Amino acid sequence: MNLFRTVNAVAIDGPAGSGKSTVSRFVAERLGFVYIDTGAMYRALTLKIMRENIDFSDEEKIIEISKELNVQLLPAKNEKNSIRVILEGEDVSEEIRKMQVTGNVKYVAKIALVRDNMVKFQRRMIKGIGGAVMEGRDIGTIVLPDAKYKFYLDASFEERVERRLAELKANGQPITRKDVEDDLKHRDHADKTRKVGPLKKADNAIFLDTTNLSIEEVTMKIVKMVKTR
Ligand code: DC
Repeated sequence: MNLFRTVNAVAIDGPAGSGKSTVSRFVAERLGFVYIDTGAMYRALTLKIMRENIDFSDEEKIIEISKELNVQLLPAKNEKNSIRVILEGEDVSEEIRKMQVTGNVKYVAKIALVRDNMVKFQRRMIKGIGGAVMEGRDIGTIVLPDAKYKFYLDASFEERVERRLAELKANGQPITRKDVEDDLKHRDHADKTRKVGPLKKADNAIFLDTTNLSIEEVTMKIVKMVKTR
């Protein structure tokens, strides 16, 4: 595992709406590090399963597909998307954010062997690069337990609902507040109670409550800490 000390790895975990995606991207930009959105990888896998009409109870097939998942994360071309997600050569950046995909991710994310494959893939992605900001749910605990810098972001439920609502509306998705509240409640539950790789603060991660902080304030806090430690 010492291998991961050779890169400047910043692990950022937290629930949906904690601000971690935007913050992670900005931190990566400021530090000149590569930004890796692991949620996008789980979303791309989920989309592939949906497109191939595979039943979410067919774990064997899902595991098989996860082994050969052909997904690339590229820098965004515009401000609307945080990154470009390419699944088998096709840009699926918008499609993976749709509510149907979001609602189905839990079925693939709970399969232990799927997570093993994703973790291997994620570790390979940072081999040989100078610095990476990797965000998700299990980065500080499972994917990069030896990361030099670990952060856990959270915010009040109400604030997270507001942020998700604004984000989805900006993307033109027809959505009500109640839909967003239900989605967050279900996802929090699925993320925190999953037997493998649950959402959890690593013991040595720095906790940041972002409820009353702007994206810029959180970004600056993290960049400062990384630069001075
Ligand atoms: O970060 P996000 O909201 O785009 O992630 C979508 C889902 O993917 C999330 O609800 C749980 C799953 N996920 C995961 O299980 N492990 C990760 N490291 C990242 C995301």
